[in-house]
Amino acid sequence: MDSYPNELLSALVERIGLGIIVLDANTRIQHWNAFVAQRCGKNLDQAKGQLFVNIFPEADTSRFERMVELARDKSTHVYSHWLEMPALVELPVSTAEHGLLALQSTLFFPFETPDGSIHYGLVMYETSTLAQSSEQLELALNALGGKQVEQDQLLRKLEAANSQLLQSEKMAAIGQLAAGVAHEINNPIGYVFSNLKTLDGYVHDLLKIIDAVDGATSLDDVRQLKRSLEYDYIRGDVEALISESGDGIDRVKQIISALKDFSHIEEEEFRLADLHRGLDSTLNVVSNELKYKAEVVKEYGALPEVDCISSQINQVAMNLLVNAAHAIEKFGRITLRTACDGDWIWIEVEDTGKGIEPKLLNRIFEPFFTTKPVGKGTGLGLALSYSIVQKHHGRIEVHSEVGKGSRFRVWLPVHQPSALVQADGQAI
Ligand SMILES: Nc1ncnc2c1ncn2[C@@H]1O[C@H](COP(=O)(O)OP(=O)(O)OP(=O)(O)O)[C@@H](O)[C@H]1O
Ligand SMILES: [Mg+2]
Repeated sequence: MDSYPNELLSALVERIGLGIIVLDANTRIQHWNAFVAQRCGKNLDQAKGQLFVNIFPEADTSRFERMVELARDKSTHVYSHWLEMPALVELPVSTAEHGLLALQSTLFFPFETPDGSIHYGLVMYETSTLAQSSEQLELALNALGGKQVEQDQLLRKLEAANSQLLQSEKMAAIGQLAAGVAHEINNPIGYVFSNLKTLDGYVHDLLKIIDAVDGATSLDDVRQLKRSLEYDYIRGDVEALISESGDGIDRVKQIISALKDFSHIEEEEFRLADLHRGLDSTLNVVSNELKYKAEVVKEYGALPEVDCISSQINQVAMNLLVNAAHAIEKFGRITLRTACDGDWIWIEVEDTGKGIEPKLLNRIFEPFFTTKPVGKGTGLGLALSYSIVQKHHGRIEVHSEVGKGSRFRVWLPVHQPSALVQADGQAI
């Protein structure tokens, strides 16, 4: 009866898929099971009574000693994990799936035999499947890390391309603006210049009359000269010329101040701005493009000051206004509306132009998408506007009907999220 469980246990130990080595208190080998015998290629009879580190010289001796110390002094079970390389003892394991592996996890523990002496059990088991999946996980993680790096690089490239795009669009906008401004300034400067020439002639004649006063023998001579030089006409015209020239110079001054308001080139920071003022100066700047194509109707609501980079919002408005004018074939109407809705405001540009075909609606914000002839449009206006509005945490809505017109509505938050963080002192 008694021997039955022992036989059972020794059969179990010999057949189990774990390496089991029994050592005495001095770490001399007492026994190992068939699993070890098959893999280590050493003879148990010759090994018996020998020190473990002598039979397994390849073992990591210092680690083995530490395990013994812990097991002896603290009577604990000491585990070593397959991840701790090198393995304490390498017993090559062959698996159907992964071929030969030498990964070992070990368990080292003390136990007392019936005669009261201390022995140690060293159990070695194979965790190759775990190792394999962990290895795969690590590979996947590395690959993912690589992808992340690639994505970061791509993002950086995109950012660079985007800022180049912004730059080139800025240049294009400046070119367009310069052409408009040149035209606008040319008119008043033209007539101020021609008035100056006329005034030059008048001054010449007036000086002649004054000079004649000194040499004149009679007042009649002077009167005669005045009549012959059409003094009365000059007198009336001089005043008209001077006031007209004053108006011309005023117009130039207006254009220059609108330009200053519009550009704020150096300004790249968010600050509270009066959008109506910006829209008015934008209208002034593009009036040359608009006036032959449309009557511009302003329907401004009440707007609070909005946290934005006003020069960039001006640029968005300019793009929408110029697009609206381009969409109108003969002469139409462009309505510029604004309104406030809770914490948001919107700016809307509506035109009575040719409209946008539904199938093109989702393409118009693509960079370089244009239906204008080569050399006419760069296709960057809306792409740039989109990125500016995104930067402002806003959105653009489009409504369009072919043959009737289009409406672009730009929604902007009154406060930028970062400003809210500062105001509340905590993230939202
Ligand atoms: N108000 C509008 N009415 C009709 N079509 C429009 C309107 N606004 C934009 N589009 C269409 O969207 C396209 C893209 O506009 P976007 O402003 O990006 O470029 P563009 O005007 O063609 O060129 P750019 O603005 O660079 O000079 C236009 O070519 C046009 O087909
Ligand atoms: Mg455009």
